Amino acid sequence: MTGIAFLLNGTPVRVEGDTPTRTLLDWLREVRGLSGTKEGCNEGDCGACTVMVTDATGSRALNACILFLPQLHGKAVRTVEGLSGPGGEMHPVQEAMITHHGSQCGFCTPGFVVSMAVAQMNGRQDHDDVLAGNLCRCTGYAPIIRAAEAAASAPVPDWMQNDRSFILAQIPKSDATTPPPVSLDAPGGSGGTHVPPAFRPTNSDDLADWYLAHPDATLIAGATDVGLWVTKQLRDLAPIAFLNGVTDLQQIERQGGLLHVGAGVTIATLREAVRDGLPSFAELLRRYASEQVRNAATIGGNIANGSPIGDGPPALIALGATLHLRRGDEMRSLPLESFFLDYRKQDRRPGEFVAGISFPEKAPALRCYKLSKRFDQDISALCGCFNLTVDQDRITAARIAFGGMAGIPKRATHVEQALTGQPWTEATIAKALPAFAQDFTPLSDMRASAAYRLEAAANLLRRYFHDLNGTPVSVLEVAP
Ligand SMILES: Cc1cc2nc3c(=O)[nH]c(=O)nc-3n(C[C@H](O)[C@H](O)[C@H](O)COP(=O)(O)OP(=O)(O)OC[C@H]3O[C@@H](n4cnc5c(N)ncnc54)[C@H](O)[C@@H]3O)c2cc1C
Ligand code: FES
Ligand code: FES
Repeated sequence: MTGIAFLLNGTPVRVEGDTPTRTLLDWLREVRGLSGTKEGCNEGDCGACTVMVTDATGSRALNACILFLPQLHGKAVRTVEGLSGPGGEMHPVQEAMITHHGSQCGFCTPGFVVSMAVAQMNGRQDHDDVLAGNLCRCTGYAPIIRAAEAAASAPVPDWMQNDRSFILAQIPKSDATTPPPVSLDAPGGSGGTHVPPAFRPTNSDDLADWYLAHPDATLIAGATDVGLWVTKQLRDLAPIAFLNGVTDLQQIERQGGLLHVGAGVTIATLREAVRDGLPSFAELLRRYASEQVRNAATIGGNIANGSPIGDGPPALIALGATLHLRRGDEMRSLPLESFFLDYRKQDRRPGEFVAGISFPEKAPALRCYKLSKRFDQDISALCGCFNLTVDQDRITAARIAFGGMAGIPKRATHVEQALTGQPWTEATIAKALPAFAQDFTPLSDMRASAAYRLEAAANLLRRYFHDLNGTPVSVLEVAP
């Protein structure tokens, strides 16, 4: 039986006979006794469990609490215990945290220093964004940010540079790149409960064949939703296919003015890809969860889960995106909005998976507005995305889509009709506002009341008008 092989703090490890939904956090603490990595929320929210994961594409911070062991195969993991040098020398971020008084009770500190060490390694200077997924209850962020700034100018320690070349040399190539279907027995070995196979395909042809034969299987991409099914709902997910080794689903191509984005592209990578051509979409993705979650979550998972409050679909629907699905050898494409049928019900047949999505690489009039109780690391109460074409002061086409306003991500078709063909004036906008009540009957929940949602959605159209006319509307730009 082939196991899971990866580097842990520079030492190769092999995991045999563990359940495929064992999280890295549990394994580190309970099996390896590495208790520096903390458990706070166990749902990806607090960053206390942050670890550094490196592969041939680079190093990133991930939440160990919603990361399953098979997702680490062929990679290198560094925990807080692996940040210091071979002679016990402190990492520059650890030194800086002491110098700048960045820790009080210390519970959050291991997660912070790992996030900071990854940022230091990658030359990141956007410390507020990098650390938005690490919560500190007692120190306050100013000393921590000062520590991150100080460490940013220090050289990256030699011992931190090795993981990338090391993994390729140490993990046997056949094991790291071409794993066969793997059966992972439950703890207890042959005497324990048998866990049905977990499949780790390396290409989408193998995935398509296997999924057709196992249409009831759970697909796991970034596990930022599925992880919680295990840690919070204690669900049994078998049989399972892990998609993170399917490299052909992780590609982005530009062709004929379109971006073709594979389902396995992470939100972090997508954000980079749309930064120049679709800056408002990129800004929306900056507010998508946290650095750690964006590094794991995929756009395919964000679409496939069918959440009415996911941030990707409203922007993509406003862009007129086309979704690509695959079942066996059969591919089909459909407008993204047609994929969402009803609450958590999608137009996806058994054995069919999301292969990718295509959308224009540029849309100068696209604006995305996310309203949530917190600026960082919060799910949208509503998310409105607007993309109008204005020709000689007349609106010639309109695409408007919302999350958080219905049981699915949905277009505001009545509002679009009220705008199309009309002059681009404030009077037109005012006249279109009542149409929101025809398009949406939102719910009241802990994030917002129905009345708030309806009024805020209408106000976002006003905001769009002023935004496109050059008035600063971002909460970060508006002066008191
Ligand atoms: C702390 C936290 C904060 C979050 N904040 C946000 C936020 O601000 N905005 C937001 O939109 N979301 C947010 N999310 C939700 C989550 O990150 C997204 O829904 C994410 O994009 C899911 O992608 P994934 O790759 O992790 O999917 P997974 O968890 O691996 O899978 C999700 C679902 O999609 C299915 N699936 C995955 N890939 C495919 C595929 N290729 N074909 C068919 N089915 C597939 C899985 O079987 C599962 O049903 C947050 C999550 C957490 C934990
Ligand atoms: S324990 Fe809170 S993010 Fe993992
Ligand atoms: S130092 Fe106590 S939570 Fe951050």
